[in-house]
Amino acid sequence: MVIKKTQQKKLKEEIKIDIESKEESKNIISEKTKMADVILSNNKLMFVLPRFGLKFGMGEKNVKELCEEADVPSSLFLLVCNVYSDPEYKPSQAALHSFNLADLLVYLHNSHSDYLDVRIPAVQRKIMKLAELCGNKGTVLIKFFDEYIREVKKHFSYEESKVFPYIEKLLTNGKQKDFNIATYQKNHTDIEDKLTELKNILIKYVPQVSLEVHREALLDLFLFEDDLDRHSLIENRIVVPLVSEIENTTK
Ligand SMILES: [Fe+2]
Repeated sequence: MVIKKTQQKKLKEEIKIDIESKEESKNIISEKTKMADVILSNNKLMFVLPRFGLKFGMGEKNVKELCEEADVPSSLFLLVCNVYSDPEYKPSQAALHSFNLADLLVYLHNSHSDYLDVRIPAVQRKIMKLAELCGNKGTVLIKFFDEYIREVKKHFSYEESKVFPYIEKLLTNGKQKDFNIATYQKNHTDIEDKLTELKNILIKYVPQVSLEVHREALLDLFLFEDDLDRHSLIENRIVVPLVSEIENTTK
């Protein structure tokens, strides 16, 4: 059977529509979804809420209503939710251009503050509690943890002092000569190696004195790692392409 060119084109279009509708149905969170259900569908999203100024006690309100109240673009909120819910998520061009980049910078800045002021001290308390039970091995654990946190802080500090101000200037004053996003991309090294070492120490070498304390420290570390991974995905898959596009179209 010979399929004519017009039939082939129609077939391709139908396959494309089918793939797109399947992709759409994967992203089950929408503006109409109740915010409580957003958290129930993926509990890791409870860490995202405060970075948008959203609070618990939201009752039956949906995403659209709460985002409007908090003056948050719901398209940006949904984009971040999608990154947290699907590690393979690649935003469409429409999703990438559905919000202001400046609003995303606010979210990333709030995330850094949340890591520094809340998440890191919380993990630190649990690591210290475990270390206190473990004598000499505890000292090694604290040393590794301190080194890891130092690297994480250096990473945030580079973005806060160099990258974000650069993007802000690019958005308001046009092209900047002293920096470009490709430099950031090159320097955006992951901080996973040290974390893997730290997890290995906890799992393989720190003796189990208290199962509860050991498990709590490890669980917090896993949650922190997962959150940081998603944070990096947002920077690599959303910030970098958007800024690069602006650089290429701005004089
Ligand atoms: Fe960051």
